[in-house]
Amino acid sequence: MGNIVSIGKPYQKTDGNRISILVVDDEEFIRALVRERLEIAGYSVEEACNGKDALAKLSASLYTVLLTDIRMPEMDGISLLKEVTSRYPEIAGVVMSAHAELDTAVSALKIGACDYITKPFNFDVLLITIENSIRKKALERELQDYQVNLEKKVKEQTDLINQMYIRSIDSLIKALEAKDFYTRGHSQRVTMYSVAIGKEMRLPQEQLETLRQAAILHDLGKIGVREAVLNKPGKLNDEEYQEIMMHPEVATKILGPIPYFRPLLPAILHHHERFDGLGYPMHLKGDDIPLESRIMAIADTFDAMTSTRAYRTALTLQTANEEILRCSGTQFDPKIVPMFIGVQGRIEILGDLDDLVLPDGHVDKIFAQSG
Ligand SMILES: [Fe+2]
Repeated sequence: MGNIVSIGKPYQKTDGNRISILVVDDEEFIRALVRERLEIAGYSVEEACNGKDALAKLSASLYTVLLTDIRMPEMDGISLLKEVTSRYPEIAGVVMSAHAELDTAVSALKIGACDYITKPFNFDVLLITIENSIRKKALERELQDYQVNLEKKVKEQTDLINQMYIRSIDSLIKALEAKDFYTRGHSQRVTMYSVAIGKEMRLPQEQLETLRQAAILHDLGKIGVREAVLNKPGKLNDEEYQEIMMHPEVATKILGPIPYFRPLLPAILHHHERFDGLGYPMHLKGDDIPLESRIMAIADTFDAMTSTRAYRTALTLQTANEEILRCSGTQFDPKIVPMFIGVQGRIEILGDLDDLVLPDGHVDKIFAQSG
C-alpha cells in the first residue's frame, strides 16, 4: 500500500492517511461486500445507494476514487459520472458494469471515467483496477502541473529576453542623447502630448500603450544621422535632409528583429507622413496612415515649434497653435487637431503635464523597466 498511499496523497481525505473511496450501488449486499474487501486492503470506504446520494456525499467530503454501478434508481452511474467529471475532475471514476452493459461502460470511459470492471469481478482485479486509476489520475495531475510550470517558465524566459532587448535599446537611446541633447526632452514631451490626445480620443488601453512606447522611440533612428547634421545651426542641404528623412526607416530596422517592439513599428515608421500624402517615407494619405502616427505627427510638430533648436528659437504657444490649425487637413488629420487643441487647454489650466501622462506613471517607464 505504501506506493499507492504516496501517489494518492493529494486526494486523501483530510481526516486520515487512508485513501478514500465512495462506493455507489443500489444493492446493499454488493456495497457491503466491496466495502469489506477494500477496507481490508487499507482504504477508507463510504457508501451511497444512488447517484443523488453520492453527489450529496461528494459535496460534503473529499474522495480519491468513485466506484459506481451503472443501473441505479433516481440517478444512474452515467449521469453521476457526468456530474463528477465536471465538478470534481480530480476524482478517479471507476465503473462496475454487467457484461450486458459493456457499451455503457465504454461510454463512461468517454465521459472521463478512468476504468471499468465487469461484474461479477475478482477482488484482486478490482484492487488493481483501483490502483491503476489512482495512478492514472496522479499522472494526469503531474502532467497538468508540468504544463503550468512550463508555461510559467516560458513566460519568465520571454520576459527576461524582452528585458535584455529593452536594455540594449536603452543603450542606443542613451547614445542618441549623447549625440543630440535635444532628443530626450523632445521624446518625453511628444509622448505626453500624444498620450493626452489618445486619452482625449478614448483609445483603448492597449493602443494607448502602443502609442506611448512608439512616441518614446519615434526618433530612435536619428542614431544613424551624423551629429553635424543633427546639430547644424543653418538650413540643411538636400543631401543632409535626405539623411534626416531616413530616420523612421532606420528605427524600424533597429527594432524590427525584436518581436517585443514589432507592434510599434508602423506607428514609428509613419510618424512623418502627412494627411495630404506629401509626407515620408511612403507618402501615405489620410486614414491609411496609422492612427498613432497621425497623433504623433501633431505632437511632434507642436513640440518642434515650441522648443528652441539649433537652427531657431521657440515660437509662442499661440503662434504654434495657429500653425497647427492652419495645417489641419493638409499636414494633420482634421479630426485629431481639435482633440489636441482641447487637451492643450487643459494642460494650461492644470499647469501640470504629468497629470496627462498614463496613470501607471512616468512617460519613460520603458527606460525604467530596463534599469
Ligand atoms: Fe522624427
